Amino acid sequence: MKVLGICGSYRDESNTNKLVKKVAEASGCEYELIYLAHNEIKPCTGCANCMMNDGICIIQDAMQEIYEKLLQADALIVGAPTYFLDVSGAVKCFIDRNMALYYRGIGPDAEMEVLGKRPLSGKPAVSITTVAGAGHERTKETLKMFLDYCHKMKIVAELAEPVGMNDVYDMPEVMKRAEDAGRKLGAALKK
Ligand SMILES: Cc1cc2nc3c(=O)[nH]c(=O)nc-3n(C[C@H](O)[C@H](O)[C@H](O)COP(=O)(O)O)c2cc1C
Repeated sequence: MKVLGICGSYRDESNTNKLVKKVAEASGCEYELIYLAHNEIKPCTGCANCMMNDGICIIQDAMQEIYEKLLQADALIVGAPTYFLDVSGAVKCFIDRNMALYYRGIGPDAEMEVLGKRPLSGKPAVSITTVAGAGHERTKETLKMFLDYCHKMKIVAELAEPVGMNDVYDMPEVMKRAEDAGRKLGAALKK
């Protein structure tokens, strides 16, 4: 069982990315982390090639390798810092490029005609955001839209943590919630 964690913040000492790692570790499963900061992901151009050609995105960048990793993952953790009351631009760019994936012709909903084929359908997922003070509710909703509406994944936990100017490693209650979320993810995978 392989868990894939998307670390959406570009900051080296990112609280969001630390929580993604904690959840992955606590799942007790094999895991891989993808740091968006280390990958060039261009914006979706809306060319619709993916819709017409079985989910093939023609933009040649790091997303091509990430698509394959997403398809091979048994579970997903996605972490986004809250920027101006929603996910950061880098994470939104990653989300938009995911449209190609749900037109791949595999998975339990492969026969769906209008809404795409959703190869990640039914797999467990955890969403994570951190925020200085406020705005995390909308970020949580955007991540829910991505995991639940777009990919039809089963969200087993949602972390939306106001952290102020602190380091999450100094916030044991937040780390405990991340650990619990990871355990839930691991349990969902072993079912
Ligand atoms: C461009 C930008 C916009 C932000 N917008 C908000 C906001 O709307 N509300 C808020 O409370 N904090 C906001 N913040 C603070 C971040 O949400 C907060 O520092 C978050 O924990 C950063 O996550 P990271 O440590 O994973 O990078 C913003 C920070 C930046 C750089």
